[in-house]
Amino acid sequence: MNTHTSTGMEDANVLIIGGLGFIGSNLAHRLVALGAHVVIFDACLDPYGWNYANIKEIERDVEVIVADTRDFEAVKTQVTDKDYIFNFAAQVSHSLSMERPFMDIDINCRGNMNVLEACRRLNDDAVILFAGTRSESGDAQYLPVDEHHPDNPSDIYSINKLAAEKYHLMYTHVYGMPTSIIRVGNTYGPRHQMKHGQYGVLNYFIRRAMLDEPIMIYGDGQQIREYCYVDDVCDAFLLSAQTPKSIGEYFVIGSGEPVKFIDMANQVISAVGKGSLQHTPYPEGREKIDVQKYYVANDKITEYLGWHPTITLKEGLEKTVAFYQNRLMEYI
Ligand SMILES: NC(=O)c1ccc[n+]([C@@H]2O[C@H](COP(=O)([O-])OP(=O)(O)OC[C@H]3O[C@@H](n4cnc5c(N)ncnc54)[C@H](O)[C@@H]3O)[C@@H](O)[C@H]2O)c1
Repeated sequence: MNTHTSTGMEDANVLIIGGLGFIGSNLAHRLVALGAHVVIFDACLDPYGWNYANIKEIERDVEVIVADTRDFEAVKTQVTDKDYIFNFAAQVSHSLSMERPFMDIDINCRGNMNVLEACRRLNDDAVILFAGTRSESGDAQYLPVDEHHPDNPSDIYSINKLAAEKYHLMYTHVYGMPTSIIRVGNTYGPRHQMKHGQYGVLNYFIRRAMLDEPIMIYGDGQQIREYCYVDDVCDAFLLSAQTPKSIGEYFVIGSGEPVKFIDMANQVISAVGKGSLQHTPYPEGREKIDVQKYYVANDKITEYLGWHPTITLKEGLEKTVAFYQNRLMEYI
């Protein structure tokens, strides 16, 4: 764990939008342990990662509001008394964004604008943390990708996430509102949905291996990626929220451990103790939006926040498999 993430949140009023999902619920566990008053705001939309099992251990310690960021009035009622707002609500599927582009705009642009506008009108002191995505930069023009890399997103989801990120930075620049962005990369760990493999494929591979079903590899599996353990990602958000220097900034974060896709799949099989690989051609249209090689430099986030990845892929896989070994039925 990054050391100074354990202070400063006691008695803070915190809103976690998208908090029944994967990253939001893991952060909710952390914030409850730190003594924060946590309200979760989630629309419980399928096929995304919301799951009441994600907050089973803390259900008496958090308040859950089932509402949608596309509903401006609902957002307004929840932002007023908050010190911190962590916004993880998103349409998160790259392929679904291509099939339903207007829905993606509604959630990933308008929904986020509603949060910003509600705060501007009613609570412009709230510290807003927004989850961007590594795919905002598109194919890597150089490696490792850093915050100077140009943005050339290759699908609707990533374009709209970039727009939302720019809205946040503009609200800081023009209105002085405290916002900060972490561009999240592939993240894995306990509490990720495992119902389908439309996104968050590493966790889906764990399910397939646990159920002894073959893991599908599109193409030759030589794509380079990195996979960040969710506790490290939560550390980054907590540190950013507590560090005034991060206001108006965005950060890329990664595990610092680039790995070939096929090697990741083999590591999943070893962590689970069973499973097999099956090579298959890309589905139509998928190859064009698949980034071939991607990993990032953590220098800026380390310099600004003292953040660094602490959990190796091997350790993270062991922790994740241990979680699902007891609770698989709640996630499939
Ligand atoms: N997990 C990753 O690997 C990853 C990678 C890059 C970026 N991100 C970003 O991190 C954030 C969290 O991702 P996650 O993996 O936890 O996803 P998730 O699907 O597990 O959680 C998203 C949650 O948001 C909720 N939601 C969706 N639209 C909503 C709306 N309009 N109003 C209210 N709630 C809504 C869903 O019901 C779900 O519970 C997203 O913004 C995503 O773009 C995640």
